[in-house]
Amino acid sequence: MQEKPISLRKRLFYTRSVTDASRTRAVLNNAILHLHPTTIPVPALRFTYTWGLGGISTVLAFLLGFTGLLLMFRYDANVGSAYHSIQLLEAQVVFGALIRAVHHWSANLLVVISFLHLVRVFATGGYKRGRTMNWLVGVVLFVIILAFNFTGYLLPWDQLAYWAITVSTSLLSYIPLIGDLLRNFFLGGADVGQSTLRNFYAIHVALLPVLLVGAVSYHFWKIRKNGGISQPERQNGSAAERLTTIPNLVQREFAVGAIVIVVVLLFSMFTPAPLAGIADPVHSPNPAKAAWYFMGLQELLLHMDALAAIGVVGIVLLAMFSIPYLDRRGSDIGIYFRSKKGKIAALVGALLALDLVPLLVIADQFWVDVSTWVPGASPGLTNALIPFSLTILGLLLIYGLIRLFVQANHSESMVGIFIFVIIGLVVLTVIGVYFRGPNMALVLPF
Ligand code: HEM
Repeated sequence: MQEKPISLRKRLFYTRSVTDASRTRAVLNNAILHLHPTTIPVPALRFTYTWGLGGISTVLAFLLGFTGLLLMFRYDANVGSAYHSIQLLEAQVVFGALIRAVHHWSANLLVVISFLHLVRVFATGGYKRGRTMNWLVGVVLFVIILAFNFTGYLLPWDQLAYWAITVSTSLLSYIPLIGDLLRNFFLGGADVGQSTLRNFYAIHVALLPVLLVGAVSYHFWKIRKNGGISQPERQNGSAAERLTTIPNLVQREFAVGAIVIVVVLLFSMFTPAPLAGIADPVHSPNPAKAAWYFMGLQELLLHMDALAAIGVVGIVLLAMFSIPYLDRRGSDIGIYFRSKKGKIAALVGALLALDLVPLLVIADQFWVDVSTWVPGASPGLTNALIPFSLTILGLLLIYGLIRLFVQANHSESMVGIFIFVIIGLVVLTVIGVYFRGPNMALVLPF
């Protein structure tokens, strides 16, 4: 049977759409290959190596940028109208409540996911072999994410926002020398008010996005420059088998991205973003808690003077930045927890944190009173210097014990102490969020 000739109109349309499609594909491929190398080693594709955490952080950052932009059309950064602009957005704008919920939950999820990404990178020694700078930028990225959440927290101008920011910013004053200056700079005055809202809004929608885009761009460029993510070194020196990035990696990234978006959307459809009553500077809720990601710090403050707590946090932050310099052994890169002994050290660190931290919290609450140890001593000694020194000594002791009893090397022992600090922080956060009631007394959550 003779084939029907294709009309000129159809031929033109067909050729045009084919060229358009291939052009779009070429542009897309080109963009992807600016981010990724053209081929990647097969082990780097293993999902259980990265758990897709960096990719999920990227998707969440995009979701936040998009929904944040939409929110800006309705939000009014004025103490007299901020709260009502949120109410109107939720009540009158089509999908307004959903957009706000997606923004809210993605922001909270990004804190969790980027934290887990940080832990994964540490666990596989992803800061070794030329990746020091990317680790440092990563820690800065995490601080930027916290700052985004913190400044965004105030914007709804409800009771939760007002008092959480009042509690958190009061801590700034305890930073030696520059504390008051910093507090006045952020608050724009002595108390949380119109200037604070304006400052936080400007930082949230202008300053932080610029910093985030700059830091993430460097982060991606450096991964590309390092020839992709970290890999275990091969015994015989041979190179790992490589596959093309398109479609092998890109397909997986798109699948993970699609799943993240669906999960966040579904969750946000059924769980609205919280909005308490309008901010009331006269009546403080009891307990007045900081945002959940600062509850670890707030919990610490219940056990020592603010200066000592800030000192502990400062040292932990400094140690985070110094990790690539403290652990220079490159041969264990790409191996979860470095070795078998490293895994044992991690387990010891985790178990110690799970037992010791709640025990110390309970002991300090009910039994221990440091001021009776040194009668007549100043509160500076009993509330600040002694608890601070004991905390730092305790951490060094755990490191020493792991070295001694697990017979771990320096790199493996660092895994133990890192996991102790990470799990300890999680435990303090859980206690602060769920086990603190009126007047911040210890209570059972059920
Ligand atoms: C907005 C936040 C972040 C985004 C979007 C992001 C994105 C990514 C992506 C996509 C990767 C490669 C694949 C993967 O590991 O999943 C990666 C790797 C890496 N990230 Fe991040 N990241 C973020 C935050 C952080 C943080 C908080 C740290 C740690 C302090 C960090 C340190 C690193 C390092 C050192 C690598 C290379 C790891 C290796 O070679 O194994 N990143 N990041």
